[in-house]
Amino acid sequence: MEIPKVDTPCDICICEALLEDKLASKEPFGLFEFWHREACNNDEVINPDAMCLSTATPEGVPSARIVQLQGHDKNGFRFYTSSESQKGRELEENPNVALTFYWPAQQRSVRIEGRAQMLPKAEAATFFQSRPLDTQITSHVSKQSTPLADRAELWRQHIDMAKKFESGGVVPVPKTWRGYTVIPRTVEFCQARKNRLSDRIRFRRPNPSEVIDGHIVHPGIDGWVFERLAP
Ligand SMILES: Cc1cc2nc3c(=O)[nH]c(=O)nc-3n(C[C@H](O)[C@H](O)[C@H](O)COP(=O)(O)O)c2cc1C
Repeated sequence: MEIPKVDTPCDICICEALLEDKLASKEPFGLFEFWHREACNNDEVINPDAMCLSTATPEGVPSARIVQLQGHDKNGFRFYTSSESQKGRELEENPNVALTFYWPAQQRSVRIEGRAQMLPKAEAATFFQSRPLDTQITSHVSKQSTPLADRAELWRQHIDMAKKFESGGVVPVPKTWRGYTVIPRTVEFCQARKNRLSDRIRFRRPNPSEVIDGHIVHPGIDGWVFERLAP
């Protein structure tokens, strides 16, 4: 059987293969920026910033939900939430988290494993105040993840709160408002391809005594190495 040329686009999307010598960046933040920009520029990707955040109790019982990526750079991946939610409580006791992006139009996913660090309160407040007034009011009203009688109750609370700010005024930052940045230990890029022969490239920090052979483990930049994983 003929082995197909590996750098041709896959049959299910227009993406090229993910090849070791053709990576857009040899460190994960640069490659994420490249993939994220491609997702943002693709009309079929409705919400490129939606990511699954997995947390766990100190005993290791997991829970997962979608949150919105609100910024990313070499310090990590930022999101905002309420300390009253399940994730808020779990993050307080166990900072180990995973983030998963899935961009179906491109058959791509990015898996991030690392540690969530709380952002300084002032930074979280600045972000809160940059949001539309209506959204600020909702964050104030909603005691995230507590049971409600019905949707009307949520509306009533929202309208009561909105009345307080009808004539202007600054919406105070809720006491429960939190921002986090996820500092990655590993970042894996997966490009699904025909016949399940998907490309998976994982970046990680090397162990101090590890031999970077350039065969299985490849030298990256900024203290990262990367390796191909079986699909
Ligand atoms: C597209 C989308 C984006 C969301 N973004 C956020 C977000 O940025 N922060 C947040 O706290 N919840 C967000 N949510 C709601 C969460 O998925 C979840 O319902 C809520 O945070 C409570 O989760 P928890 O009690 O498990 O912590 C989003 C939901 C969806 C569907």
